Amino acid sequence: MEFPVQTANPAKAESACLVVPVFKDGALLPAAAKLDDASERLIGQLIERGDFDAKLGNVQLLPFAPGLSADRLMLVGLGERGKCQERAFIKALDAAFTAVAALPVEDIAVAFTDVPVPERSIAWKARMTAEAAQRAVYRFDEFKSEKAPRPRLDKVALLLSDSEAANEAREGARIGNAVGQGVAYTRTLGNLPGNVCTPSYLADQAEQLGRESGGVLEVEILDEAALEELGAHSLLSVGRGSEQPSRLIVMKYQGADSADEAPHVLVGKGITFDTGGISLKPGEAMDEMKFDMCGAASVFGTAKAILGIRPKLNLVFIVAAAENMPDGRATKPGDIIKTLKGLTVEVLNTDAEGRLVLCDALTYAERFEPASVVDIATLTGAAIIALGHHATGLLSNDDDLALDLLDAGEAAWDRAWHLPLWDEYKEQLDSNFADMANIGGRPAGTITAACFLSRFADQFPWAHLDIAGTAWTSGKQKGASGRPVGLLTQYLLDREEEARQVENES
Ligand code: BES
Ligand code: MN
Ligand code: ZN
Repeated sequence: MEFPVQTANPAKAESACLVVPVFKDGALLPAAAKLDDASERLIGQLIERGDFDAKLGNVQLLPFAPGLSADRLMLVGLGERGKCQERAFIKALDAAFTAVAALPVEDIAVAFTDVPVPERSIAWKARMTAEAAQRAVYRFDEFKSEKAPRPRLDKVALLLSDSEAANEAREGARIGNAVGQGVAYTRTLGNLPGNVCTPSYLADQAEQLGRESGGVLEVEILDEAALEELGAHSLLSVGRGSEQPSRLIVMKYQGADSADEAPHVLVGKGITFDTGGISLKPGEAMDEMKFDMCGAASVFGTAKAILGIRPKLNLVFIVAAAENMPDGRATKPGDIIKTLKGLTVEVLNTDAEGRLVLCDALTYAERFEPASVVDIATLTGAAIIALGHHATGLLSNDDDLALDLLDAGEAAWDRAWHLPLWDEYKEQLDSNFADMANIGGRPAGTITAACFLSRFADQFPWAHLDIAGTAWTSGKQKGASGRPVGLLTQYLLDREEEARQVENES
């Protein structure tokens, strides 16, 4: 999708639809006021007569727009001025773009950068606009025989009253466009069923991203023979009961001037289906365990966003992919396995498989001597109990890294919440027979899972994002959310900015 910036008089903007946000108090924002002047006070009169209620998220289409160069006018309610914060702003954007996506229009112009949101820049508003536009046109109907008509929207002009902010808006839209594409990719990988999206399918996706990147993304796939040779027995133990072979997928992006600059590493949990294994899950909603590769999907989506933005950074994207199935050859409760690091693990519950693939991937990351490692995983149902479906769980062995991720989540409006990773919790993983057990009992399940991982992350600043509650939506709107691509991309862009500042100081 394209997001040109327009600073000319909005009344002269030629487009299929002008989208104009308005507050309940009726005092028009700059672009709306100009449109009002040019259209014999069309907007003001609609509000005064009570024909349009500017309640948050209300949308009204006017199929004509006298005095304006656009074919249609759409008013979008912002609600009360005093309550216009991030959530309201994004809700209005979503309402507007959902309505637009249902219209037979290709190019529109929107005036959202005018909306005052405390402490948010024009760039942020442009970014959120681009992300919302792509969220609204996203469809996943590959497996429907009869497909609904596709939204035709492909150009969204950003109307700006302040021409000095044009570059800022352009840059915000550029980032939002790339993030939006990454999010859509993550959603599609997540939504694909387990019989299509297997570990080898994910490996093929990596190869394809590598090809499309024109050599910028270097891809390496470790198959089961290579993993055996390496000693990644923990990762392999998870896929043992599956007909689908496991894979460790490694994608390297060199954007920094020097190849020696320490990379930031993202590691994704890629369980393409989680039955629980021999510790079989109950049947209800088990289909949703196709989403157990959403951590991996967010790594792919972030890689895609990064390829769109091309920051000056070195990055490594790792995906640990396996299918967790019960079978005669599957790992059993009580089995003891040896991890790539050499630590032994007593597998007390085969349903705690995510940590078993991630621990070997974390050990693999050591070889890159990383500046930071962030893993992303639908790791524990307990994360949903602790935080519900709004915040991603964040745990880290480094408080600076934790703060950087919290900040990135806040900036991208894809937020996380910090949980403690205290030594007190670690005892829950004690085993009578091996170096550690793979489960720590019911209390603080999200924390003990992270404690397990932390044993494999002692060589670098590391953080863990538990996205069990945020990676997808259940119920009627069932589908992958694309989170936390926004947070991750922002985190990496912040590292680029930080490196630039260090360079300027020296
Ligand atoms: N993939 C699940 C976690 C999960 C469950 C995410 C439901 C989202 C919704 C993970 O592999 C798992 O099964 N975890 C177990 C761990 C337990 C056995 C210690 C869990 O959370 O019940
Ligand atoms: Mn499981
Ligand atoms: Zn799982």
